[in-house]
Amino acid sequence: MEVCVELSNLARLNESHDLSAFDTGTTDVEGQSAWLRDHALTNDQRGLTRVFVATIQGAARVVAFVGLAPGTIARDTLPRRLRPHGTPLIIPGLLIARLAVDRTLQGQGVGRDLVLAAIGRALSAHEHAGGALIIVDAAGEKARRFYTHYRFTGITDIGGRTTRMVLPMPVAAELLKRP
Ligand SMILES: CC(C)(COP(=O)(O)OP(=O)(O)OC[C@H]1O[C@@H](n2cnc3c(N)ncnc32)[C@H](O)[C@@H]1OP(=O)(O)O)[C@@H](O)C(=O)NCCC(=O)NCCS
Repeated sequence: MEVCVELSNLARLNESHDLSAFDTGTTDVEGQSAWLRDHALTNDQRGLTRVFVATIQGAARVVAFVGLAPGTIARDTLPRRLRPHGTPLIIPGLLIARLAVDRTLQGQGVGRDLVLAAIGRALSAHEHAGGALIIVDAAGEKARRFYTHYRFTGITDIGGRTTRMVLPMPVAAELLKRP
């Protein structure tokens, strides 16, 4: 199955996309599949989250998606190395609010393309509007390991199995420069 999931190929979610079969599998501790089907379009239309999707080439079926929104982090929750002298009490950033790959395509590099695409968009937002960190709430051990692989640092246990993680913009820029 050929899938178009490249940095340039993500599309903004719209009514023509087919979300009915999307299933992220047993590790869906955050209910990402249900959120995509039931809330993603409304959230995007209301301007709360921007949702970008990847589809199977030539078809409307969505196989991966990412949701981005502005976010903030309290300075006190950061380790000292991430809050140099003069850091404000509330630090603006860009939140990866949702990110998932359909279970039929996991382990084939789609998640990689997706997280790098999200980082690319965060860096564009940073260029135009500032924001010091990319933020994600990693739900479950698998998600935490996935984001650690991309140099996110766990900062706070925010309840249940969810860990808030951050990636400073300069580290994000380095990640995208890698071949
Ligand atoms: C986590 C998830 C997005 C990963 O997507 P994927 O398509 O399976 O991942 P990929 O095949 O692209 O792997 C990307 C890279 O991350 C690594 N990786 C993937 N899962 C990993 C894990 N659990 N732990 C450590 N590394 C992991 C891979 O080795 C690969 O490394 P490389 O780029 O150096 O080759 C996907 O499994 C998923 O949607 N899970 C359910 C929802 C979820 O947990 N979302 C996370 C947001 S809370």
